[in-house]
Amino acid sequence: MKHKTSLLLAGMVLFFVWAVSSCKHEIPLTDAQTAIIGGTQTCSTDTVYFQNKVLPLLNSSCAMSGCHDAITREDGVELTSYAKIISTGGVRAGNPAGSDLYKVLNKSGSDRMPPPPAAAFTQAQKDIVYKWILQGAKNNACNDCDTAVFTYSGAVAPVMTTYCKGCHNPSSLGGGIDVSTYASVKTIAANGKLMGSINHTAGYIAMPQGSSKLSDCRIQQVQKWILSGTLNN
Ligand code: HEC
Repeated sequence: MKHKTSLLLAGMVLFFVWAVSSCKHEIPLTDAQTAIIGGTQTCSTDTVYFQNKVLPLLNSSCAMSGCHDAITREDGVELTSYAKIISTGGVRAGNPAGSDLYKVLNKSGSDRMPPPPAAAFTQAQKDIVYKWILQGAKNNACNDCDTAVFTYSGAVAPVMTTYCKGCHNPSSLGGGIDVSTYASVKTIAANGKLMGSINHTAGYIAMPQGSSKLSDCRIQQVQKWILSGTLNN
């Protein structure tokens, strides 16, 4: 009897070891990890990647101080990381129409998010949230950055739009800074604040505020654009 039980136990242990080692599920990445490596897979045009599109959008449009950052947590909602977005953001994977995170984008008056006077999400921004939830609300990332590309239109403006503009536009001037035009980005490039803030250099305020540092690749793109003359190219 005793012998049988131990055999059974040994069998269970073996089965468990096999089950764990044989399943090749994706290892979930933390936001910081993926931000540093910039994602591991090449991007598919059909997929909306959380780390590339969703997190930067929510971080710069919703997770600011006074709204859904780690300190204010308006209505208990904190939109600063994958874990917090899933646990507090009202996301029902696969069901955007039933997810508060998506529903609030289409409400009217002060129920709409981001609330007036902030601008409503554009259709393209709403589609990002919608499609990501529809595709299962995963914590995924892809590598969409190339240091060989460092023009204003091809690299710098997209970085500003994705990671910075939500907090730095004419109706939301964080620190009095606008990054929505070439001229204004050129100004903070010239006075050193752009590189200082994204490199987290001592003496500058670290940006993007409230989230991980940009990947090395994106920082290099901005640096190369500046070193090559901050052209409007
Ligand atoms: C969640 C909102 C938010 C995001 C996202 C954000 N910023 Fe800021 N930024 C602020 C606020 C608020 C300030 C003013 C901080 C202060 O004065 O304490 C600021 C200040 C700055 C400054 C002045 C820094 C200094 O040392 O004087 C620069 C430059 C800047 N941001 C650039 C950027 C860039 C570039 C990005 C994108 C990579 C970015 N920010 C993303 C909110 C944000």
